[in-house]
Amino acid sequence: MVSTFPNPASVDLSRIRLSIRSLQPQLIEWRRRLHQQPELGFQEKLTAEFVSRKLQEWGIEHQTGIAQTGIVAIIKGNKLSTQKVLAIRADMDALPIQELNEVPYRSQHDGVMHACGHDGHTAIALGTAYYLNQHREDFAGTVKIIFQPAEEGPGGAKPMIETGVLKNPDVDAIIGLHLWNNLPLGTVGVRSGALMAAVELFDCTILGKGGHGAMPHQTVDSVVVAAQIVNALQTIVARNVNPIDSAVVTVGELHAGTRRNVIADTARMSGTVRYFNPAFEGFFKQRIEQIITGICHSHGAGYELEYSSLYPPVINDAGMAELVRSVAEEVIETPVGIVPECQTMGGEDMSFFLQEVPGCYFFLGSANPDKDLAYPHHHPRFDFDETALAMGVEIFVRCVEKFSN
Ligand code: NI
Repeated sequence: MVSTFPNPASVDLSRIRLSIRSLQPQLIEWRRRLHQQPELGFQEKLTAEFVSRKLQEWGIEHQTGIAQTGIVAIIKGNKLSTQKVLAIRADMDALPIQELNEVPYRSQHDGVMHACGHDGHTAIALGTAYYLNQHREDFAGTVKIIFQPAEEGPGGAKPMIETGVLKNPDVDAIIGLHLWNNLPLGTVGVRSGALMAAVELFDCTILGKGGHGAMPHQTVDSVVVAAQIVNALQTIVARNVNPIDSAVVTVGELHAGTRRNVIADTARMSGTVRYFNPAFEGFFKQRIEQIITGICHSHGAGYELEYSSLYPPVINDAGMAELVRSVAEEVIETPVGIVPECQTMGGEDMSFFLQEVPGCYFFLGSANPDKDLAYPHHHPRFDFDETALAMGVEIFVRCVEKFSN
């Protein structure tokens, strides 16, 4: 595990690196400040105030209150080679989790915690804004920095796009990162094509007929029907999806019954569907309903089904993924290096931005088991190695310079 910045090869690279390294104490301070005051989706009031105050302090033009709590900052380069516009996206929201870390900067908001690293994303975006504003002579075109609410749900990307954040000036490409404890510090996970999965949700209530546990012939047992449905749903991935493609159908909740000798009138289940291939849009909804209809029908049960699509898959543009990969190789000069084939069935509403403009979302390794910083995302003891903060800023800055030149 290498957690320091190695000696850069050229003078120019060294200048960027040293300058960003000197920002590290502030990056940590901002991140810890944000960590202490986590806020749920669309309630990022203190967070947005903090971001806006910093941008104001530095004289950076920005707009607040976009899709409730979102912010967009605009920084124009002084070089004249291009008028291209690159957007950088950071999410700001926290999770309804009680923090169990005993750190001086632990959450001061009961039951709310930055357990996914979005405090780090916001700090990295602030650091990037600060650096770019100080070095406008080093890049051309315009950089839009998008501070987005509610990534953890119900999703802030879509409403931000609907209010026009990608317009005026029109964004040509977008990049974004996620601090990633599934990867060690000193690595970057980037790939062309699908990085993260589409997320769909379903809730189903089986409508049976309750009765005495000793007289099943007088009932329609919703537990038996639900059990068959849960099993049969597994055949969609096993038997309907091309094995070359990847997909998941998970029933995460199943509730029925009140007593051992009472046959349950109704059973409720909730689940999630994940896939990479956009061609699957609509497919799982149809198959799940067919299976539920068929099994309920064969038992004389009814059902109510609600199915919704939360986020589409995160699909990276080949050219932008190559840009990020080449930049990451300059920044992460460690033996671990980059892990190009990094995919997860997790979802992200960065996907909505990537549907509008070409771009690249990538993972920045942030786990450090030696410092006990390796708990998974959304865990009450989640924390990450803050060394990754300056790495994130450096990758963004170099992407801006490379994109514009
Ligand atoms: Ni996250």
